[in-house]
Amino acid sequence: MAPELTPVLSRGWLDSEPWTLAGYQRRDGYTAVKQALRMHPDEVIQLVKDSGLRGRGGAGFPTGMKWGFIPQNDGKPHYLVVNADESEPGTCKDIPFMMANPHELVEGVIIACYAIRASHAFIYVRGEVLHVLRRLQAAVREAYDAGFLGKGVFGTDFDLELTVHAGAGAYICGEETALLDSLEGKRGQPRLRPPFPAVAGLYASPTCVNNVESIGSVPAIVRNGVDWFKGMGSEKSPGFTLYSLSGHVKHPGQYEAPLGITLRELLDYAGGVRPGHRLKFWTPGGSSTPMFTEEHLDVPLDYEGVGAAGSMLGTKALQIFDETTCVVRAALRWTEFYAHESCGKCTPCREGTYWLVQILKRMEKGEGTEDDLGKLLDLCDNIVGKAFCALGDGAAAPIQSSLKYFRDEYLEHFERGGCPFDPSLSTVWA
Ligand code: NAI
Repeated sequence: MAPELTPVLSRGWLDSEPWTLAGYQRRDGYTAVKQALRMHPDEVIQLVKDSGLRGRGGAGFPTGMKWGFIPQNDGKPHYLVVNADESEPGTCKDIPFMMANPHELVEGVIIACYAIRASHAFIYVRGEVLHVLRRLQAAVREAYDAGFLGKGVFGTDFDLELTVHAGAGAYICGEETALLDSLEGKRGQPRLRPPFPAVAGLYASPTCVNNVESIGSVPAIVRNGVDWFKGMGSEKSPGFTLYSLSGHVKHPGQYEAPLGITLRELLDYAGGVRPGHRLKFWTPGGSSTPMFTEEHLDVPLDYEGVGAAGSMLGTKALQIFDETTCVVRAALRWTEFYAHESCGKCTPCREGTYWLVQILKRMEKGEGTEDDLGKLLDLCDNIVGKAFCALGDGAAAPIQSSLKYFRDEYLEHFERGGCPFDPSLSTVWA
């Protein structure tokens, strides 16, 4: 039987004005932070470690461990930076969460800052999503007015300032060190790691960079306890998470479920692939994660399950494509995105993504030759693991994986001298 959906972060999304302080407090809002403030900060870190919560931004790094890296008694300021620069193609979970439930994020921020002894936090949100920026700013204002932020949070001697900062719309600024450069007022380009931000982050001080969903999950864990959280999901990937289904699916949207649910089960909730069509390929976690096909419908969507099947869970952005979609065209479209968003700092990514686009464009028109397939893979080999940050690896993923499963479709383009698909049938292409 399919696991039941677990509306925790998505609880109350359909209430009337769930984003207000009053609305959030009707759903037990700000009770977890009061509990946390009665604990020692180290106990809060231990609780998050014990819960097994893993970062929801894509990499799945243990959140409590990351908090534990922040050195104590070092005499330096500490910072929490919430990465709200969601931009991985297909990823659409943090934005609806912040729109519906901004106070849960603010509550998580207060708990995290108390734990890591930070007195200033930043939420770095995409510049384009003005509605989200305004929604967050309004929630932060309400929290200040209620005495939940500022001097003496909840009447304690803990002070916390929270700044909502708008980025300028560059995908690379979702990479944590590029985000920090951007926040410092520089051009956003990734820094060499190590040192990791936990050691030298914002203004060279210890900094925790956490994804929106990771921080938003903390209040529920504090409120309900470690056992409750671990009662969902799998042993190494416990808890609930937001899966975003998009593309050729009857009811696209966010489905909050235990980690380890399969796409087959999620499709049952989402009404299946659009009527009259069948699944062709899909991404488990955005376009940066190698694509899957119908044979992967029963892969458990947790870090281990997806990893064992040859991809990554990433942002849990399940983009569904049916048989009307040309996989070469999909790979080209994604590659154009990466080439456009490459920051240009390192040669493999800057030059490599440019040439990938040139070759794919030719191929999609049926002008390539079989030799070009080797060239494509060779270019990918020269990017993967050799680029400065994860953007390069991400760019290669759709190409390498589409060639693995659909080599014949690439060849068909050459044989016919053109694309065998009618793009007007595949509604996902604007
Ligand atoms: P990573 O695995 O290098 O690092 C993950 C986190 O763990 C970082 O915060 C890093 O600072 C920390 N960390 C790792 N090793 C550490 C150590 N030894 N000491 C201290 N801290 C340590 O992954 P990365 O490059 O940060 O992120 C890649 C992921 O981002 C991909 O899996 C991809 O799915 C995801 N992504 C998400 C996007 C979105 O819109 N949410 C956009 C693009 C990619």
